[in-house]
Amino acid sequence: MNFHVLTLFPEMIEQGMHTSIIGRAIAGGYLSIDAINIRDYAFNKHQKVDDYPYGGGAGMLMQAEPVYLAYESVQKKLGYRPRVVYLTPQGEVFHQTMAKELAKEKDLVFLCGHYEGIDERVLDEIVTDYVSIGDYVLTGGELPAMIMIDAISRLVPGVLHNDVSAEFESFQDNLLEYPQYSRPEVWHDRKVPEILMSGHHANIEKWRREQSVIRTAKNRPDLLEKAELTEKEKKLAEEVQKEVKKSL
Ligand code: ADE
Repeated sequence: MNFHVLTLFPEMIEQGMHTSIIGRAIAGGYLSIDAINIRDYAFNKHQKVDDYPYGGGAGMLMQAEPVYLAYESVQKKLGYRPRVVYLTPQGEVFHQTMAKELAKEKDLVFLCGHYEGIDERVLDEIVTDYVSIGDYVLTGGELPAMIMIDAISRLVPGVLHNDVSAEFESFQDNLLEYPQYSRPEVWHDRKVPEILMSGHHANIEKWRREQSVIRTAKNRPDLLEKAELTEKEKKLAEEVQKEVKKSL
């Protein structure tokens, strides 16, 4: 899968995405991340890419033309119109199902805004998806783009060595992940739950599933609606939620 990031700060993307699992996946040829500097497409000698908003107001806007030319360079290279994600607090909030859907694309373009935003006309012309990473305002779209690239990349076949872990982790069944423990058996007087030492796989799976239901009921009850729970699990979730309410 190939990511193309249109940005005024290509070094942020380059430095942020070449370590750990994503770095290894790029080195292994499973992914490519190309950061395109919008400033290279400025059409004046000062390489200026921003200007005052018509009608007044605070701050500067990124102008349409450099953004369009940067996009066009990618589109021409690909020979088709790829999906273009514009990172903005006004967009649909990013979630795992969206990551799964976007992971099917061969190419994805991310457009990172700065200053007070981008001239609406170029957005109308090139953007296919408006996405927010959450209800808070950041200084630019680079971190949101990197977050999305990370979440999408780990769903691309070959990126995680162990495909099982992509399947069974948090959110895959709309349940949070169960707690995990490694050596030593006792740390700071805290013992690893007995059941995990039993070697009884069926019981361990049962315990883990229960822990997932308990955690989700405690921390993210909103997810339970979409989770497929047995009658027994529904009761367990209700009990946990009752306890939480009592303790408030
Ligand atoms: N740009 C600034 N804030 C953002 C957010 N929360 N999500 C996506 N892009 C942004």
